[in-house]
Amino acid sequence: MKTRITELFEIEHPIIQGGMHFVGFAELAAAVSSAGGLGIITGLTQRTPQDLADEIRRCREMTNRPFGVNLTFLPAVTPPDYPGYIRTIIEGGVKIVETAGNNPQKWLPALKEAGIKVIHKCTSVRHSLKAQSIGCDAVSVDGFECGGHPGEDDVPNFILLPRAAEELAIPFVASGGMADGRSLVAALSLGADGMNMGTRFIATKEAPVHDNVKQALLAASELDTRLVMRPLRNTERVLKNAAVERLIEKERTLGPKIKFEDILPEVAGVYPRIMTKGEMDAGAWSCGMVAGLIHDIPTVKELIDRTMSEAEQIIDRRLARFLHAA
Ligand SMILES: Cc1cc2nc3c(=O)[nH]c(=O)nc-3n(C[C@H](O)[C@H](O)[C@H](O)COP(=O)(O)O)c2cc1C
Repeated sequence: MKTRITELFEIEHPIIQGGMHFVGFAELAAAVSSAGGLGIITGLTQRTPQDLADEIRRCREMTNRPFGVNLTFLPAVTPPDYPGYIRTIIEGGVKIVETAGNNPQKWLPALKEAGIKVIHKCTSVRHSLKAQSIGCDAVSVDGFECGGHPGEDDVPNFILLPRAAEELAIPFVASGGMADGRSLVAALSLGADGMNMGTRFIATKEAPVHDNVKQALLAASELDTRLVMRPLRNTERVLKNAAVERLIEKERTLGPKIKFEDILPEVAGVYPRIMTKGEMDAGAWSCGMVAGLIHDIPTVKELIDRTMSEAEQIIDRRLARFLHAA
């Protein structure tokens, strides 16, 4: 399948694995890229730029296909060493960067000068247009269904994607709720040039996370995610667990007075405990509604191959049949 996204990133299939904290290590990124998609290492999971340099090197040893690095710009009391991470990405020869969170404008000149293509993750049409106007090459349009931070507008992909298609000139991928060939065809129909998956890629053999996490995804339904941190305007979709119930209770009792410090036990530093140690109630972790569509733990290649053959069958047979039924 050839789309503007496969052309832009020089990949075989229009499938991207979005950056995921403590999931997007070299093992997963390399598996996705080797299977013909675009794998992405999560930059800030690496504690220092030097650690990121090592991770990029490890990934390159595992695949000779293109892969990217995610850089997430979030408000922080002590911001990460962004200039250091950017330098590492450039010196590491990485040619694709997925940015997310705040406007990446400040970092674009350095990235562009190094010939790096930038795809920015946006949860609204206005942010997508902004990304286009500052020179991003593509956008990942993240609907309300998505795992992680869906923004504050709550527009699901059935509306958000065609709205993005109405306004954007640069290519975009559909993100949030994507799981299989049906998702890919729907995304293409709504105007996207491919899809980005987060949660679905966690439930794969190569995802370097504790088996408890994968089992939790198998057990979860589409009803099992919760939105937290809305009062802080930092809304996150997470899988419900004991810590999330506690967090929601704090939000209920403290109301608009709630501060980030009030919920530190439920959100700070919890990812390594969950993803690496498998302590499933340690805190809130991002998870999409798409958990309801996850019923197995295939290899990344099996997942991508079957997604592509399912998409081709839907286009060639199911959809074509409607047209030729008369
Ligand atoms: C466990 C987890 C961690 C994530 N961490 C990040 C992150 O650090 N930076 C980022 O830009 N997006 C992050 N995301 C969002 C994904 O890249 C992607 O946009 C999202 O998962 C798409 O929705 P889906 O889960 O329905 O596929 C995370 C998602 C999950 C599930």
